[in-house]
Amino acid sequence: MKERIASILSNALERIAAVRSMKGLEETRVYILGKKGTLSQVQQGMRDVPKEEKPEVGRILNEARGAISAALEQRQTALQAEADREAVTAVDLTMPGRTLPAGGIHPLTLVRDEAVRILRRMGFALAEGPEIEDEFHCFDALNTPTDHPARNEKDTFYFDNGKLLRTQTSTVQIRAMEHLSPPVRIVSPGSAYRRDDIDATHLSVFTQIEGLYVNEDVTVGDLKGTLEYFLKSLFGAETAVRFRPHFFPFTEPSFEIDVLLQAAGQAPKWIEIAGCGMVNPAVFEAVDREKGTREYGGLTGFAFGIGLERLAMIRWGIRDIRLLIENDARFLDQFQA
Ligand code: DAH
Repeated sequence: MKERIASILSNALERIAAVRSMKGLEETRVYILGKKGTLSQVQQGMRDVPKEEKPEVGRILNEARGAISAALEQRQTALQAEADREAVTAVDLTMPGRTLPAGGIHPLTLVRDEAVRILRRMGFALAEGPEIEDEFHCFDALNTPTDHPARNEKDTFYFDNGKLLRTQTSTVQIRAMEHLSPPVRIVSPGSAYRRDDIDATHLSVFTQIEGLYVNEDVTVGDLKGTLEYFLKSLFGAETAVRFRPHFFPFTEPSFEIDVLLQAAGQAPKWIEIAGCGMVNPAVFEAVDREKGTREYGGLTGFAFGIGLERLAMIRWGIRDIRLLIENDARFLDQFQA
């Protein structure tokens, strides 16, 4: 009996020492201490041990159980420590963290902010006006006669109450002069609305940036120099810019400005990006009449209205204006900083 216990003990300790995994350790525990385990079986043999030897055999048996339990526990601690060590060394702490996809700034916003930054550096202050306008600010004060085609229901969105969605940011010229005394030097980016058919270069909701400079002795030279400097700051010194004579009711003389668009895989093309001109004295008169002053009479000034979508198209060689409103992530991802 004593020898059997000794051999079971040494066999058990050997097995425990050889175990490599938690699962193996549990199997070993059952193999030795389980109901039908090796030690449990030998314990059943106690019945046949002569009475006078029972205390001694019992003690040996208990010692063996204690030693085995201690060995199991020790092995478990060692295996756990090993597993912990492995778990830690499997983590590469120098690896970059997981990043969530982040939104970016829309190209139209990028070009608007850049345009405003350049113009503010030149001394223009930021001005604002409402998108729901009246005929006075959108047409009358801008010297646009009642029968002008732009005032047609076919071209302008009217509300039932006679108000309208502004067809141009030129409305802010009037609002700025109503609130400020000359000299005035403002820029105003914002939305404009027209009942245009949508195609590769037209949207019915689009964005303009309006500019107005009024002072004594402002000349066409100032206008041309300012806008050329602005466009070259935005697109680079090599940018080709041309001024074409045109007509606007609120300026005289008036011009349209074209910039050469060089889109990848396409022949270079002149794109009209802005209207501009010397403020028509009739506009100053309308403001003075409205204010009951003579602040603007006798002054000169220039004004311009630039299409921001067009600027973005030239800036990045975008061939279709509709890409700017479709919110296709494959397109927008290209502008991530
Ligand atoms: N408002 C004009 C348009 O939407 C653009 C324009 C032309 C603005 C001449 C001006 C200007 O300020 O002087 O077509």
